[in-house]
Amino acid sequence: MKENRIETDQTLSEIPSAEPERQYYFIEKARKHLEEMKKEAARPLTFCVTTFGCQMNARDSEKLTGILEEIGYMEEPEEEKADFVIYNTCTVRENANLRVYGRLGQLGRAKKKNPHMMIALCGCMMQEPQVVEKLKKSYHFVDLIFGTHNIYKFAELLYTRMESGRMVIDIWKDTDKIVEDLPVERKYPFKSGVNIMFGCNNFCSYCIVPYVRGRERSRDPKAIIREIERLTADGVVEVMLLGQNVNSYGKTLDNPMSFAELLREVEKIDGLERIRFMTSHPKDLSDELIQVMAESKKICRHLHLPVQSGSTRILQKMNRRYTKEQYLELVRKIREAVPDISLTTDIIVGFPGETEEDFQDTLDVVRKVRYDSAFTFIYSRRTGTPAAVMGDQVDPAVVKDRFDRLLKEVQDIAAQTCAVHQGTIQTALVESVNEHDSSLVTGRLSNNLLVHFPGDASLIGSLVPVSLKECRGFYYLGERA
Ligand code: 5AD
Ligand code: SF4
Repeated sequence: MKENRIETDQTLSEIPSAEPERQYYFIEKARKHLEEMKKEAARPLTFCVTTFGCQMNARDSEKLTGILEEIGYMEEPEEEKADFVIYNTCTVRENANLRVYGRLGQLGRAKKKNPHMMIALCGCMMQEPQVVEKLKKSYHFVDLIFGTHNIYKFAELLYTRMESGRMVIDIWKDTDKIVEDLPVERKYPFKSGVNIMFGCNNFCSYCIVPYVRGRERSRDPKAIIREIERLTADGVVEVMLLGQNVNSYGKTLDNPMSFAELLREVEKIDGLERIRFMTSHPKDLSDELIQVMAESKKICRHLHLPVQSGSTRILQKMNRRYTKEQYLELVRKIREAVPDISLTTDIIVGFPGETEEDFQDTLDVVRKVRYDSAFTFIYSRRTGTPAAVMGDQVDPAVVKDRFDRLLKEVQDIAAQTCAVHQGTIQTALVESVNEHDSSLVTGRLSNNLLVHFPGDASLIGSLVPVSLKECRGFYYLGERA
């Protein structure tokens, strides 16, 4: 699904200095260059965008895809067959980095067989100087490297690579710039992520995000509303408002505005049926937001509220700025205002200094809140963060044991909370034909649970009432009601 196509003035002889015009100029230049490359290869040339990490990266990848299609590349799902491969990387945990190096080695071998192949790397991992050093030293076959702050310059950087024939590296330390209206190619016609802010100012002591995504900056509310209006005109019924900490949206705007106020504006958009958002930091979740959620007809009955740990002592070392009791009180208030809300969370085990007693506090929060699901992570030491140099790193065998116990608790509770909806009728947004059984379609409920029920591809993108017949642990089998 195409977004934001602007007609380019092909007679331009000078490089525009304003954005996004400058990037449209380079898209045109790259398109002409690619035409020549295609003639030489005597076939169409293809691309593959591989995404690691979070929903922010998924949305960024749609922007990369939009630009590549505009330049004239065709999508190829298998990366080793593609002529242009770009990895949009994540560095939140060490294993994300290791996966990139592993796959890159493989890709280097594929490149030897394809003279037209180019390999690009972007995203959070590229913001780490030691990563770029390693790539320069040991991965000479990489053609283009850029970071998170200059992703909007992709067309210009790609064209520079095409013209120079040399490795191009462009990494910025930070930016206060937000470029609007570049091409985007949506993965789904009926739902879309929408960035509302970039960066993070929280500096949780374990987290590398503030260092690689930079300082918090919010998009102008008018640009957000305009984007969602365009999306709904193009068939989108559900949006996911994206930010590292959506609850502090708007604080740095010239005319400050709260996230709750933004939600009220988004709610008014005709044709938009569902609003989701992610991620909420508990310390910034206001009473005003709870009220907006309770009153809203469109905000989904789901809140992702990362707790990270249940121990006040560890939360303090994590620089989370809430206590166990404050978190539980917040959950109580939310449940009181929105009784049918589904709550999910992120939990880290094995943070430096975590004792069995601290871990018991985490289990206690899990048992008290009864999350609908939880992402559980083993603490990963990230160079440059305060926690990386804290003493008392926990023995990996102890961490693994705690992780397994936590996972079991989380899964047992999730299976029980999922089952409470049995027999109810709820509206599902149909997302796809079921992968394993083509007589079924898969829909997402407001509370984020999936339901599979008889139907065909014509239902994709519609909201249909479904009777939830049978709970299968984490999803439902149903029938149209
Ligand atoms: N180690 C483990 N998990 C981490 N997260 C962030 N940084 C780390 C780290 N160093 C987790 C947090 C966050 C989620 C996106 O990733 O739980 O909410
Ligand atoms: Fe990382 Fe904390 Fe910012 Fe989330 S709020 S991105 S965990 S620093």
